[in-house]
Amino acid sequence: MCGIVGYIGSGNVYEILIKGLHRLEYRGYDSAGIALVSPSGKLNVFKAKGKVENLESFCADKNLEASVGIAHTRWATHGEPSDVNAHPHFSEDGNLALVHNGTIENYKVLKDALMEHGCTFHSETDTEVLVQLIEFIKLKNDCELVDAVMEALKQVVGAYAIAVIEKNNPDTIIAARQSSPLVIGIGEDETFLASDATPFVEYTKDAVYLKDGEIAVIKRGEPLKLFNLDNSESKIDVKTLEMSISQLEKGGYPHFMLKEIFEQPSTLRDCIRGRVVEGGRKINITGVNDNKERFLNAKRIVIVACGTSWHAGLIGKYLIQSMCRIPVEVEYASEFRYSDPVLDKDDIVIAISQSGETADTLAAVKIARSMGAFVFGISNAVGSSIPRETDSGCYIHVGPEIGVASTKAFTGQVMVLTLLSLAVAQLKGTLEHEKIAEIGKHILKIPTLVERVLKLNNRIERLSLIYTYAHNFLYLGRGYSYPVALEGALKLKEISYIHAEGYPAAEMKHGPIALIDAEMPSVIIAPRDHLYEKIVSNVQQVKARGGSIIAIVTEGDSVIRNIADHVLDIPEMPECLTPIISTIPLQLLSYYIAINKGKNVDMPRNLAKSVTVE
Ligand code: F6R
Repeated sequence: MCGIVGYIGSGNVYEILIKGLHRLEYRGYDSAGIALVSPSGKLNVFKAKGKVENLESFCADKNLEASVGIAHTRWATHGEPSDVNAHPHFSEDGNLALVHNGTIENYKVLKDALMEHGCTFHSETDTEVLVQLIEFIKLKNDCELVDAVMEALKQVVGAYAIAVIEKNNPDTIIAARQSSPLVIGIGEDETFLASDATPFVEYTKDAVYLKDGEIAVIKRGEPLKLFNLDNSESKIDVKTLEMSISQLEKGGYPHFMLKEIFEQPSTLRDCIRGRVVEGGRKINITGVNDNKERFLNAKRIVIVACGTSWHAGLIGKYLIQSMCRIPVEVEYASEFRYSDPVLDKDDIVIAISQSGETADTLAAVKIARSMGAFVFGISNAVGSSIPRETDSGCYIHVGPEIGVASTKAFTGQVMVLTLLSLAVAQLKGTLEHEKIAEIGKHILKIPTLVERVLKLNNRIERLSLIYTYAHNFLYLGRGYSYPVALEGALKLKEISYIHAEGYPAAEMKHGPIALIDAEMPSVIIAPRDHLYEKIVSNVQQVKARGGSIIAIVTEGDSVIRNIADHVLDIPEMPECLTPIISTIPLQLLSYYIAINKGKNVDMPRNLAKSVTVE
């Protein structure tokens, strides 16, 4: 949540920062702001409520000359979205400007102490406390900015990625990280910093991911220096970015979400590459191969995740239990961390997170490791916090996901969970070779099958017109299709703001069936699997109450076709692979309903892509 960006160099500071903010806007769009220090040592701060484009309009007639600058796009935590609460915040004497991503938990105590010393505050944010504290220490100790930042951070409890600049010092940025992401881009005679590498990928591929507790001193014309809070110098580990600029653009699509839905054949190809070999007979997951004993001896697997990643985790439970015969529990990371969990060294915890930065999932990882469990991460963002904190793991390799509603990351996560389950089953001998080979062969066909399902696009666009003005939706599924129902409902509510509930189809009889009438459409995921006969009766139950039905069925289905109002066909495939395919029509349906309602699908209200606060 919140994106920060900074730049020092001879390029156009304002333009680089604004472009960077646009790239980071997926992290929050309640307000945006920029602080610029001019070559003559003047500090200008400009802010505007709302999206980055509002900030650009506000800045249009301003003097934007600068040698160094920092900028911020906000997802509000402390204080409503407003100009005054927007970052950057500055110190009372106007000497320092600071941007912050995270939350300062002890801000009240610090604020009261500073007020006793005569400090006045203008915003309701925790961030203003931090900048005032740094300035207070700097004046009191008559020290350098880096020493004041170090001293202030020792007093702070919470999560932060910060960048600070100083009037009269057009040559320096001080940045620091604790539990919120920060990466530094090292170019030729220029240095960038940002919440992720997207703002600077076209300028440099050399990136340094800050670790918790590190402070970066970025000085014009000098090599980057990193320090720990105890003032010891920290080693610099430069990584090469694999990201390309085309992955960050819409590539002719009207929205990132639609582009990402249509990218799925190629993202799944990338996800599978090198992992399904010998024509499908062998599954290779490095994180499993390297930790054979752990997986062979696992007594239990606990999956922790949030939101869409949690839905992928539920599918993971069905996959692992049926293929590997290991009991699996799936927990919301936010609940797990406070549930006094019971774990031991024979447990494996699988943490799933697209961004690799979700605060609750990261906290769950740390707790699990502290209790001796082996922690395996499934993530998309290379170099992010969760892959760094886990014992081992696996990337989904679907490329940057910009649309706030997760689509290609979900199918990538489910694919990795499928491959992981097969790899462990192969190791444990819980699935016959022939069965693994049969599923493996189908996995290789998945990208082509996804291409086929995407051909439903125009039909779904037309179908969406019939249902755009429904106020409530029910999504039903059983077995593997139950988490798909949850995911379909989440997609609809988060981008179209229509209330939707996902339910196990049989549970419907225990309450939700009371809601069904002609006004309440049901989306029923009913592929031909071992629960098919059961879901047919659930479809009939909805119809008998006058509800309209959109059903996702297997090609050639004739039974549900005669009951449902609309059917969308997906190809025949082994049951365990259906979630990857059946979710795609639901992504398109939610996209088109939201578009019909005129909603901003890439930046839905109140949401942010990366939830780095509790
Ligand atoms: C929904 C969505 C969210 C995320 C959740 C976890 O479309 O994107 O529900 O799945 O915030 O995020 P990650 O996977 O980054 O931990």
